[in-house]
Amino acid sequence: MKYLLFFLAGFIQWGIAQSSLYDTDLLPADFHVERRRQLRARMSDNSVVVMFANPVRNRSNDVDYTYRQDPNFFYLTGFSSPNAMLLVFKTPQTIGKVTTDEILVIEPKDEEQEKWTGKRMTVKEVTGILKFKAACYADSFQLSTIPFASFTKIYNPYFYNDVRDDRYDKYDLFDLEKNYRYLTDSLKTVETTGQYRLMNQLREIKTPEELTLLRKAIDISCQAHLDLMKKLKTAGTEYQAQAIVEYGFRYNGAEDIGYPSIVGAGENGCVAHYTSNRKKFTKTDILVVDAGGEYHGYTADITRSLPVNGKYSEAQAIIYNLVLKAQEEGIKACKAGNKFRSTHEATSAVIKKGLVDLGIIKNADDYQLYFFHGTSHYLGLDVHDAGTYGELKPNSVITVEPGIYIPPGSPCDKKWWNIGVRIEDDVLITTGEPEVLSAKLPRSIAEIELLMNSVK
Ligand code: GLY
Ligand code: MN
Ligand code: MN
Repeated sequence: MKYLLFFLAGFIQWGIAQSSLYDTDLLPADFHVERRRQLRARMSDNSVVVMFANPVRNRSNDVDYTYRQDPNFFYLTGFSSPNAMLLVFKTPQTIGKVTTDEILVIEPKDEEQEKWTGKRMTVKEVTGILKFKAACYADSFQLSTIPFASFTKIYNPYFYNDVRDDRYDKYDLFDLEKNYRYLTDSLKTVETTGQYRLMNQLREIKTPEELTLLRKAIDISCQAHLDLMKKLKTAGTEYQAQAIVEYGFRYNGAEDIGYPSIVGAGENGCVAHYTSNRKKFTKTDILVVDAGGEYHGYTADITRSLPVNGKYSEAQAIIYNLVLKAQEEGIKACKAGNKFRSTHEATSAVIKKGLVDLGIIKNADDYQLYFFHGTSHYLGLDVHDAGTYGELKPNSVITVEPGIYIPPGSPCDKKWWNIGVRIEDDVLITTGEPEVLSAKLPRSIAEIELLMNSVK
């Protein structure tokens, strides 16, 4: 029994992405090759970027969370399995018998493990399919052959503090990182710096291949939200509404949710990142549904706030239309050259004035009591994606998501209590007018009520 348990440990580990066997629209290897070339172009002379795959994270006992590659690592490699290390050199280095400006170090093959977790990529596949100039297995790789002391600069990754050591595996991420730190921690002559600035600059601007995948994630997500609008009256709880929207993502090809779905009714809609989703609706609830599907790594981020009975009350409609007006002004501010914060300035100006006019606040500066988060973030491989947060630039994608949240007990007329409204869309910055990528999903009260009552 003990023997069997030993082998079962690691039974449910990472579903190693084998989707390339079936999907024909993954990012091509040339995309990742070009990203590495662009990275090199931005690196300083005589430098190296060092990156590690995401750790496998344990859920409990012998069950791990579904594996997801570190987005920076994926962006540069297309490699979606754990226990790997990437080295990108500014200029070619001679290491042993090879001269190369990049190496991907991967887990050795292991027939026994592969019976449980699926085939691991071979070095030949990494150089052939992923088009790496050099790759090797961790057990035949001597990290000490890399001339770390001779570089002027090393761009280091962020080191996670939750990397576990598999003591049966001498070549896992824990050991790769430990060896790397042993060789580089005490280098006196080499400047070490974070790599986030480089990666933020690169990932902020989406290539046409990335935009195709983002559009697909957003289209799938719009369709799922649309189905929810039509079916919400058949649901009686937050989790049933969640099930309808997440079913739509998966059924239409999304591999996952891009983030935990926020499905909050009434007072729960006033909690920005509410995710327990267990409440039974009361018939006057407004339901905040913030959910997006992930397609080939890229995620949508869409919110709609729906009356569970198919009709907004008078007070709900007033708040809803105020948030909608704020969002429209925010979208107008999505122009290349504007400061990143200009969308927030636009939405908060509308919300400040609206809350004062309605008598919900006396002093405009108190608006943050009811609108306490930012308006925008970048969107891509992460829901809160990498970017510089400087000026808005063409081919970046951001969200515009104002909200008003009035939990019970708030210092205003009781008629406003339990109203939470967020409206969130995904916007492509262009050289001209912004393109709302989630535009096909209705936002007006008239359209939403019509849809919600169109199916008996
Ligand atoms: N879904 C999280 C957010 O809107 O930022
Ligand atoms: Mn968002
Ligand atoms: Mn969201």
